[in-house]
Amino acid sequence: MPSPPALEFVIRHDAPIPTSFGVGGRADRLACPTCEEDVRRCLEIDPEPLMLGCGANLLVGDEGVGRLVVSMGAPALTQVQCDPETGLTVAMAGANLPRLIIESVRLGLGGLEGLGGIPATIGGALVMNAGGAFGQIADAVVRVHAMDRAGRRLTLERAEIPFAYRSSGLGGLLILSTELNLRPGDPAALRRRYDEAMAYKKSTQPMGVKSAGCAFKNPTLAAPIEGVGDAGQRVSAGRLIDLAGCKGMGVGGAEVSHGHANFIITRKGATAGDVIRLMEEIERRVLDRFGVRLEREVVVWRRDWG
Ligand code: EPU
Repeated sequence: MPSPPALEFVIRHDAPIPTSFGVGGRADRLACPTCEEDVRRCLEIDPEPLMLGCGANLLVGDEGVGRLVVSMGAPALTQVQCDPETGLTVAMAGANLPRLIIESVRLGLGGLEGLGGIPATIGGALVMNAGGAFGQIADAVVRVHAMDRAGRRLTLERAEIPFAYRSSGLGGLLILSTELNLRPGDPAALRRRYDEAMAYKKSTQPMGVKSAGCAFKNPTLAAPIEGVGDAGQRVSAGRLIDLAGCKGMGVGGAEVSHGHANFIITRKGATAGDVIRLMEEIERRVLDRFGVRLEREVVVWRRDWG
């Protein structure tokens, strides 16, 4: 059989950057590597590229970005291989997490079903240690294959990766792939857990709107807050934002969801500047009211980084 035509490594200029907010600036240069060697070539063009997943947790400043943006969406960089007998699964960085979750549940492989409803690529999910009340991706990771900014390949075992709440310490690397340990189990039971996670989201979070999910990480309290939590306890940022009276607050086309206060929703005509100003106002109000400094979960890319 003739081999498929070799894909070309292209760099698009003045390219839109897709994000869940549906607002924000463009990339001066967007690279679409087709293989690992192309990823290395990206580092020759810009040793500090910005790695793009599916833009699920990303806000790009309206002025766009000058650094090379790298999209890992080519077929060779999005592949997944599951071994239904052992559960060992190899997923490339650009693979789509929701699709992998559905496929693993269908095959009766457990470990990811609690992450149902989280939009992400594998690379993005690893960097953020994506998760929620029903689990986090770190729990399934065996090892991660990556490239450092000098183009050297490295493999990190699970124990070497400082996974924590919504963080991994992997941000300085270019993630290539991961090996996940999924456990063979009963597909019907896995499906029930998946449905439970999805139903919880549907009942507590706005759906079908433009939003990056939770805008802020849940903070750990330094001092007790009555009715919220004790010192040392991680509490819902959404609850604090809600109690600070921010629900429904808006700046331009950006608004704090009435459903879940940690969700910022963008409407037609919104700009990234609206979202940033709204985040700043939320930060100010929660600090004034509770003395809690919220940390952003949404990643913001700005041109003035150089
Ligand atoms: N709450 C309010 N008002 C609000 C929102 C929440 O009072 O506007 C209360 C709820 O009633 C509940 C408590 O706060 O008693 C916790 O709320 P929830 O169960 O929604 O959890 P969360 O801590 O706000 C976290 C994650 C979500 C994840 C859910 C469920 C963070 C920042 N958020 O939210 O993750 O989906 O648990 O697993 O860790 C995301 O990261 O993008 C995200 C949506």
